[in-house]
Amino acid sequence: METRQIDGIDACVFDAYGTLFDVSSVARGAQDALGERWQALSDLWRNKQLQYTWLRGLGGHHADFWQVTGDALDYAMASLRIEDDGLRARLMNLYLSISAYPEVPAMLAALKARGMKLAILSNGTPAMLAAAAANAGIAAYFDAVLSVEEVGVYKPHPSVYALATLRLNIPRPNICFLSSNSWDAWSAKAFGYRVLWCNRFGQAPERIPSPPDGELADLSTLPARLAR
Ligand code: LAC
Repeated sequence: METRQIDGIDACVFDAYGTLFDVSSVARGAQDALGERWQALSDLWRNKQLQYTWLRGLGGHHADFWQVTGDALDYAMASLRIEDDGLRARLMNLYLSISAYPEVPAMLAALKARGMKLAILSNGTPAMLAAAAANAGIAAYFDAVLSVEEVGVYKPHPSVYALATLRLNIPRPNICFLSSNSWDAWSAKAFGYRVLWCNRFGQAPERIPSPPDGELADLSTLPARLAR
């Protein structure tokens, strides 16, 4: 995949979970209770959470991401034979104080200093996103925090991606979309954004239409990848 600079960008739009925020930090935060099972629970929870967004989208029965996240946690806990209402409540609460990846605050500050418009575009509910951004100390960097709740359907529905260009009033080719979720990166590219895939885990490229414009190992190198 290309590694050259991307020019003409006026706004960076970030996916939230997995991209700005470390999803595995949630179950890791309850490692004292989960022991070695924390990683298995984390992976099951995340995979099921995403599956439920796609299933609800295709089936036309939307419920918000707080509900879906709780349903997926119930599935994951049941799969691992964990019955503990207190632990469930604790894990859900931890989702609201999910950790940002370490490079995120300085990267946002560098982009903001250049006058770049910054936004989040996420499956998360407005309340979940506000809590996570405030907890990570990054809320003030964003010009917009856009939730799928405005359109009532999950990514990768095009109406979700449309929110960013409409709200920021910036044309699609002048927006750089960032996601660590490969399917999200491919789908944003199909919508018409410039896209850098933050391939944190060295995953293989997807075999769906519209590969992104390039790839980053993490977000620390993003400012250098955007030409002034
Ligand atoms: C989000 C999901 C994809 O934040 O993680 O939209």
